[in-house]
Amino acid sequence: MNATTNPLRRGLVDDRTGDACTVVIFGASGDLTRRKLMPALYNLAVSRALPGGFAVVGQARRDKTHEQFRAEMREGISKHSRRKPIDEAVWSDFERGISYVAGTFEDPATYTRLRDHLAEIDRERGTRGNRLFYFAVSPAEFGTIVGGLKSADLVADAGARTGPWSRVVFEKPFGHDLESARELNDTIARVFHESQVFRIDHYLGKETVQNLLVFRFANSLWEPIWNREHVDHVQITVAEEIGVEGRGKFYEQTGVTKDIVENHLMQLLCLTAMEPPISLAADAVRDEKVKVLRSLRPMERSMVAQNVIRGQYGRGFVRADEVPAYRDEPDVDRQSCVETYVAMKVEIDNWRWGGVPFYVRAGKRLARRVTEISVQFKKVPHTLFRAPDGGITPNVLTMRIQPDEGIALRFTTKEPGQQTILRDVAMDFRYGAAFGSNTPEAYERLLLDAMRGEATLFTRRDEVEEQWAYIDRVFDAWTSEGNTPPPVYSSGTWGPEQADDMLARDGRRWRKP
Ligand code: BG6
Repeated sequence: MNATTNPLRRGLVDDRTGDACTVVIFGASGDLTRRKLMPALYNLAVSRALPGGFAVVGQARRDKTHEQFRAEMREGISKHSRRKPIDEAVWSDFERGISYVAGTFEDPATYTRLRDHLAEIDRERGTRGNRLFYFAVSPAEFGTIVGGLKSADLVADAGARTGPWSRVVFEKPFGHDLESARELNDTIARVFHESQVFRIDHYLGKETVQNLLVFRFANSLWEPIWNREHVDHVQITVAEEIGVEGRGKFYEQTGVTKDIVENHLMQLLCLTAMEPPISLAADAVRDEKVKVLRSLRPMERSMVAQNVIRGQYGRGFVRADEVPAYRDEPDVDRQSCVETYVAMKVEIDNWRWGGVPFYVRAGKRLARRVTEISVQFKKVPHTLFRAPDGGITPNVLTMRIQPDEGIALRFTTKEPGQQTILRDVAMDFRYGAAFGSNTPEAYERLLLDAMRGEATLFTRRDEVEEQWAYIDRVFDAWTSEGNTPPPVYSSGTWGPEQADDMLARDGRRWRKP
């Protein structure tokens, strides 16, 4: 079926538009703007999802002309947009709305210049005084910029029902522990109401992640078996082939637990484990996710050694290319104890999931890039058939987030023939085959939602704080042990064998994705 005529595509992102507004990107000279934000905005323009009155202002330290900034953005779009080549008609309209304001974040004049520039844009492009401030900067700068916006009178009243709005979008990492996240939240709350704050976890913008809610709650099949009566355990894997990719300095401060587990992986866990929300309203969904986070059994110090396995990549081969050890990456300490792999056994203490472990793992330089959630069902209570290994393989439902997006259900069948020979087969749904492969990128959906003031796919203050509270305990235990070097795994493998042992102790093993 042709993807564009596919009725299942109706109602997807292309049918929606945002409010007239100007998007202001702080830190616009960074990689994120070129690689993700501008290509996403351009693709929204191609899909005609941008509002009639629209403009983008890049803001950064360096002096440059509007033309120079536009040229840089064009280059970023040609390289990173999902649609190639650039559509010249769309681009020529889109580029007229792009401009640049230079200045340091500390200088009050930056904000007054920005204010005057925005007023001019409102007059020329019909952006109606609505502003979406996007913070593509390090969290250390959040407070300074928020203060600058307030002093220059660039913040609209959140309580006003009519008139212009201001919203702020924050990139991760949102702090580096519970205390710093709380401080950031307090600083932001002094200027912006929570309804104006959009904290990005780009995983929530992925089509396959949004589909978790649809899959669970638009089908009657799963809910009756989505619990401790039927589920043996759940595995969530976020595996990457790439290493730290020139971000050694950042990784030395972060490690994979804070980079991936605290946010992306915890969000996947929440969407898998949460109760049905009463509606799709932002707070209804977020209330349910917070309940999951509050039900997580706190990782006591004595449990960490058993239930949390760290690893650090050594040299090895990824897709036949030899790659260096983490400690040999630029800007990484040769004695670094930072983890590039972590596996955890997470317990959820509530009625639905009591006694059902969630084994989660995330790592860099693993054998394959794959993000998936697999729900492993219980064994049959009595075996009628003789299976080659003595047991029948339990059913597994796998939701593949990326790549090869899809959902597969494994079950046992009889191989045709005179004998009863059992075979495992899979029922496979693939997004590419059903919907075509050119699905919107996470940032397209998230930017559009922020322009529309829809916060369902963004993390709320209490969610972020609960995520950090859980992870902080793991770090407390590691610090109390004196931060020993993690076991080294060869690049291109599935991580340290201690992670296999953790599951083996429970009579289980990791699924080979
Ligand atoms: C980012 C992390 O948040 O997510 C990166 O900082 C990681 O280290 C990336 O590579 C993974 O995102 P995706 O969308 O490629 O799975």
